[in-house]
Amino acid sequence: MRAVDVIMKKRDGGELSRDEIAAIVNGYVSGEVPEYQVSAWLMAVFFRGMSFRETADLTDLMLRSGSTMDLSGIAGPFVDKHSTGGVGDKVSLVLAPIAAACGVRVPMMSGRALGHTGGTLDKLESIPGYTTRLDEKRFREYIGRDGFAMTGQTDAIVPADKRLYSLRDVTATVESVPLITASILSKKVAEGAEALVFDVKSGPGAFMKTVDDAERLASSLVRTGQAMGKRIVGVITDMTEPLGDKVGNFLEVEESIDCLEGRGPADLMEVTYRLSAWMLVAAGVAKDVDAATRLCEEAVSSGRALELFMRNVRTQGGDVDRMTAMRGSFRSKHVRELRAPASGYVRSIDAYKIGLAGVYLGVGRNKTSDPVAPDVGFVFERRKGAAVAKGDLVATVYGKDAASLDAAWPLVTEALSVGPDAPAASPLVIKEITAL
Ligand code: URA
Repeated sequence: MRAVDVIMKKRDGGELSRDEIAAIVNGYVSGEVPEYQVSAWLMAVFFRGMSFRETADLTDLMLRSGSTMDLSGIAGPFVDKHSTGGVGDKVSLVLAPIAAACGVRVPMMSGRALGHTGGTLDKLESIPGYTTRLDEKRFREYIGRDGFAMTGQTDAIVPADKRLYSLRDVTATVESVPLITASILSKKVAEGAEALVFDVKSGPGAFMKTVDDAERLASSLVRTGQAMGKRIVGVITDMTEPLGDKVGNFLEVEESIDCLEGRGPADLMEVTYRLSAWMLVAAGVAKDVDAATRLCEEAVSSGRALELFMRNVRTQGGDVDRMTAMRGSFRSKHVRELRAPASGYVRSIDAYKIGLAGVYLGVGRNKTSDPVAPDVGFVFERRKGAAVAKGDLVATVYGKDAASLDAAWPLVTEALSVGPDAPAASPLVIKEITAL
């Protein structure tokens, strides 16, 4: 089969057979199909889309391009959560120990910060000694013992996605529902979970800028995941404002511990409890989300989730004493204050601009090979809806050096909007789609 014929068929709006999709995906991995043809095919898919059947075939073919995690021998139920990416989104760090404390096993494979969105691995690696490079043996062992483990994707898992994702990144073909579905789902299915909860972010700080787009992605993930034999929940949550009071790497670890101590910001706890509750329902541990939420709240108030978090830090090589000593003080010395430009109300803090500014500060990166800084980011003193007088402190901003603060500052000031009227409240959890 000639790659050019497959490209032409998709370009003209045709539906590809499984063999035709395999010719591109497998041909790319084996080196038979050159990058320029795969790029053209990706662009054709970007414009023409894929049917549900094509998306499921693409996901399955990508999954089969590598090995899958074998969790047999450990008692489940195994459920993971995946977020499509946001700003201040440290939910994974809080939710994994909560779900584990309620009897769910969480095989969590996370990613790094890219573009304006943060990455769980970078946050965890800001803890002295913590390793996110676990081989399969240790990953299994830790899940069996502590209820959860946090690792990066291994090279053996979905190699097709590694190559396709890099190519999509430089060919402007990332924002495609079938391509995102296949990319995310193939990796999550490879990880061995029986059920998955997707946090599909919607708004300026997310990949999907509108609720309609987020809903299309959530539906695609749920339907395709179901076709692959998984129990799936898609929760669409708002990413207009940063989540929580802190954005950064160690700053977000700090805030995660606050949450596990029962002192988390309301927005962050609402999203965390909702997603962890769905994990319990998907695992069969609770009959509905209300009952599950009560169990999750109890896991926090009893201190059991905090204990599991600390145990995981120790297990994965982290220094709990140093981490504890760093709380509240591990901050870059390059600091600047964001103050209210007028009296009134904080109408919004734009998550996208904060995320982009964070890349300059050293929170995030433009290329996966760029380093990140552990001690930089934002501490917000006032959030959307707060009344402010001119000159009040809204945020303390930490950069890796003076130049990074200069570079970030136009975005930081633009991100803050203060006006005479209080903004209307908007829901954080926008919609839920379930296939259980
Ligand atoms: N995250 C992924 O892993 N893949 C995508 O395509 C988009 C976000």
